Amino acid sequence: MQTITLLSDLRQARKPLPGKFGLVPTMGYLHQGHLSLVERARAECEHVGVSVFVNPTQFGPSEDLERYPRDLEADLRQLERLGVDLVWTPTVEEMYPAGFQTWVTVENVTAPLEGKQRPGHFRGVATVVAKLFNAFTPERAYFGQKDAQQVVVIRRMAQDLNFPVEVVVCPTVREPDGLALSSRNAYLSPQERQAATVLHRALTSAEEAYAAGERDAELLRALMSSTLASEPLAREEYVSVADPETLDELNRVTSGALLSMAVRIGKTRLIDNVVLTRKAETG
Ligand code: PAF
Repeated sequence: MQTITLLSDLRQARKPLPGKFGLVPTMGYLHQGHLSLVERARAECEHVGVSVFVNPTQFGPSEDLERYPRDLEADLRQLERLGVDLVWTPTVEEMYPAGFQTWVTVENVTAPLEGKQRPGHFRGVATVVAKLFNAFTPERAYFGQKDAQQVVVIRRMAQDLNFPVEVVVCPTVREPDGLALSSRNAYLSPQERQAATVLHRALTSAEEAYAAGERDAELLRALMSSTLASEPLAREEYVSVADPETLDELNRVTSGALLSMAVRIGKTRLIDNVVLTRKAETG
């Protein structure tokens, strides 16, 4: 495994690698969710690259950039064990050299949900992912369903800017009690960790109502909100029942609808989602 800092060295190392190249972009502090993406890339591609970069441009001024968890040594050990070929750990100056002023802005699908709560977030995500696609020139890039809107934004960006990259989406990895794995779970106190299961419980309550025949989206939103309200440590930012491509809120629920939410547990902001399937429909 080669661990590289400079873009010029990355390009040199990437050039001679034949066959399908799979990229897994990350912000590090890797957990089983990230590793499942690497494993999938390893299984599907001849060569695999991972970026570890806490991207400052996707954090708002009052967000957790400074305290975002980092452990590069542990990350590298895990990536080596999984047989990754290239790891790029650029500095902020390497990614955004002095004078940087070019941004990728995806329009409609960044307006609601996370985009509304975190202005500028997806401009930072789309820009850095475009730069990662240019740097690694992957045939495939792997992302987690946990960041459902991010996946929609990156798909749109890849299509609109003609990146010859297949965006592969992998299932959310969960703890046995349903909590979706996230680097931000590290912020939770034991009591908050317990309370954080409410996100999965709220999504499950709506999924079950759908399976039982409920098609009124407003009712599913109300069900998720009331489940969240039952947990004293949880504060809802939004709940949504949306079209999975446009992310427009639905009135009537259809198979494939995206149920999503952002919730504060104490000071920690968590997101989660499920996609309604025919399986849920038939129970
Ligand atoms: O999902 C993430 O960890 C980040 O948003 C990504 C895609 C690595 C871009 O910084």
